[in-house]
Amino acid sequence: MQPRMKKPISVTVNGEVYEMEVEPRRRLLDFLRDDLELTGTKEGCGNGECGACTVLVNGVAMTSCLILAVSVNGQQVTTIEGLARDGALDPLQKAFIDYGAIQCGYCTPGMILMAKALLNENPKPTEEEVRMGIAGNLCRCTGYVKIVEAILATAAS
Ligand code: FES
Ligand code: FES
Repeated sequence: MQPRMKKPISVTVNGEVYEMEVEPRRRLLDFLRDDLELTGTKEGCGNGECGACTVLVNGVAMTSCLILAVSVNGQQVTTIEGLARDGALDPLQKAFIDYGAIQCGYCTPGMILMAKALLNENPKPTEEEVRMGIAGNLCRCTGYVKIVEAILATAAS
């Protein structure tokens, strides 16, 4: 079988432009973790069900295990590594720490990016809207209460 031809892509990740060649079927998740060594993005289920791999594409939360790297050609991607600014944590990151919303931490990058997308779209969500917004992001540790509190506290600040 012939090796698949790599395709050139230009993608902006966390404000930095990357000009790379990728296999046509390479997942965005693998591109971020293995090619760019941005290992903050986690793989859980690998099939779109847990939300651990959530990143922002042009500000919209997407599961990077279901997206091909070639499909973000010309787009803006934000991973958890891109949230802090000038050494200061994003308010959501700070609230997750302050409210004890992190236990093992495996779901945290995806959860925070999902919350970021939610607050971008709806800066003052109700508790119900927060719960609905993160419904696709699974956490096996916290019971969600502290996560919801952290997101609501960020919205209120
Ligand atoms: S690893 Fe992508 S949704 Fe679970
Ligand atoms: S903190 Fe462990 S899965 Fe959420």
